[in-house]
Amino acid sequence: MYKKILEKYEPKKENLISILHDVQDSNEQNYISDDAVWEISQYLNITPSHIHGVISFYSMFSFKPRGKNVIRLCESPPCFLRGSENILAKLRQLLGIKIGETTEDGLFTLELTACLGVCGNAPVMMINEDVFGDLTEKRVEQIIENIRRRAK
Ligand code: FES
Repeated sequence: MYKKILEKYEPKKENLISILHDVQDSNEQNYISDDAVWEISQYLNITPSHIHGVISFYSMFSFKPRGKNVIRLCESPPCFLRGSENILAKLRQLLGIKIGETTEDGLFTLELTACLGVCGNAPVMMINEDVFGDLTEKRVEQIIENIRRRAK
């Protein structure tokens, strides 16, 4: 099932992270299934438990099915000091979900993350690969609305 992705890489352990990114991105539900872990372990000749360890270590990877758009709001101090709590409250209100949950329509998952490395633009969130900084409640509303509109 993941043959096409795996064949893009040499079967070397150092390619594991890149493979995991590709595998997760190829899944509509933004996660890495047990089947995928098994196939990767066979290809790279490493144990599934090693791969599980890597997936658990990095917050961007998930074992659980998630929404099409994974929102990761930074909760580190510079973002917190510039109001990330209000942004979180706004996101929860707009989406009607708590941290770690996925909306019923499968469009959004809400997560928290440590510093995303763009503290100068705090507060910051990522939605899939895109970074959004200098967030205000108004801007968050527009971003969510745009995604909802595009999904129709
Ligand atoms: S603290 Fe939020 S991006 Fe660095």
